[in-house]
Amino acid sequence: VDGDGRKRFDLTLQQGRSEFLPGRQTDTWGVNGAYLGPTIRVSRGDKVAMDVRNELPDTTTVHWHGMRLPAKMDGGPHQTIGAGKTWSPYWTVDQPAASLWYHPHLHGETAKHVYRGVTGMLIVDDDTVPKDLPSEYGVDDIPLVVQDKKFTEDGRLDLDAPGPLGLQSTYGLLGDQILVNGTRDPYLEVGAERVRFRLLNGSNARSFNFGFADDRSFSLIGTDSGLLPKPVRMNRVRLSAGERAEIVADLTPGEEVVLRSFAPKEGGGFPQDRLAGADDEFDLVEIRAKDRLTEAKPLPERLADTPEITPGKDAVERDFELSGTSKINGDTMDMRRIDEVVPAGATEIWTVRNPGNPHSFHIHEVAFRVLDINGEPPPPAMRGRKDTVYLPPSATARLAVQFGPHTDPDTPYMFHCHMLEHEDQGMMGQFTIV
Ligand code: C2O
Ligand code: CU
Ligand code: CU
Repeated sequence: VDGDGRKRFDLTLQQGRSEFLPGRQTDTWGVNGAYLGPTIRVSRGDKVAMDVRNELPDTTTVHWHGMRLPAKMDGGPHQTIGAGKTWSPYWTVDQPAASLWYHPHLHGETAKHVYRGVTGMLIVDDDTVPKDLPSEYGVDDIPLVVQDKKFTEDGRLDLDAPGPLGLQSTYGLLGDQILVNGTRDPYLEVGAERVRFRLLNGSNARSFNFGFADDRSFSLIGTDSGLLPKPVRMNRVRLSAGERAEIVADLTPGEEVVLRSFAPKEGGGFPQDRLAGADDEFDLVEIRAKDRLTEAKPLPERLADTPEITPGKDAVERDFELSGTSKINGDTMDMRRIDEVVPAGATEIWTVRNPGNPHSFHIHEVAFRVLDINGEPPPPAMRGRKDTVYLPPSATARLAVQFGPHTDPDTPYMFHCHMLEHEDQGMMGQFTIV
């Protein structure tokens, strides 16, 4: 904390070497280290200040995904940080507790920069979170950054890997190896009866369908933008690129259980599903419970009472159609074109149509609620507060989108597909808040 009462964070983007495959090194990028970045933890009400120093050979940006903040602080494609330069955004945290993340956002280069390793978690706390939720970081509150990768035969991260069947996948880059928190084939020893996992799908393109190998159920307690009103029992949670979920699982002494991604299935059959990697399964982490576990408190029945996002009767409606792998409403991204202008504090209805392949739709700055998908109420895992939503093939989702108070007619925020190759190819648009 500095003299002005700001919590300061020093982040250095740097090149390094990492060993993912035994005995094989590869060039990687990271934040304050060779690969990935530290978990940043802030609380509602904090004044934060970041010093982001770019020691990479290229210009990049760092975007605070899910953070509600002024457009100039957002770290989108307009807030570039040249090689050797430092960018120093600051803002006041004002949003409910949630698991957010940060990653580069240089237009046209985002997929590469994220793939090389510039990614970290950004956790927002607030004092309304029930004390009985597991919350001891690294002990019973575990962040899991899950990413798929491809390696060349000599163990280097492969940025040009062809997709399944030798064709480019309908998602973009799909890897056949999984890194969890930067580790291949990881295990985790746990000494608590009840564990919270903060799941981030930090992949370029792939969707995961999280569950446990023995099919045990768990409680979903939070989605992208905050905790649910109450826990929901389930045994699968699907996350497309950029989405997060918080789950709580119970363990018995001495047991081993594997957190797995089951085939996410797009329902497209062959070769559609193959090209989307939708029939792939992966073991993600082996969880080894110790022989003695600390006893858990019962899971609270009420987790949060953040008011539901509800559009008024005369809410402005906007329509977005995602087409191919590069367009929204018929256009590719243009850094000089403002596509939408939204009044500060508005709650609008955004209808997103996806006539084609799977996409993952993200809006900066906002929190939204999925009102319906193909006219039906969303499944339980999609009912919470969100900033990114999976759009299956041929789906239409209606979102109630709540915009923040920070106005700036000259600096846009982004909305885009979070499958990073689609985003880089232009499936992105810009809006301002005025
Ligand atoms: Cu996580 Cu515009 O991105
Ligand atoms: Cu974002
Ligand atoms: Cu897409």
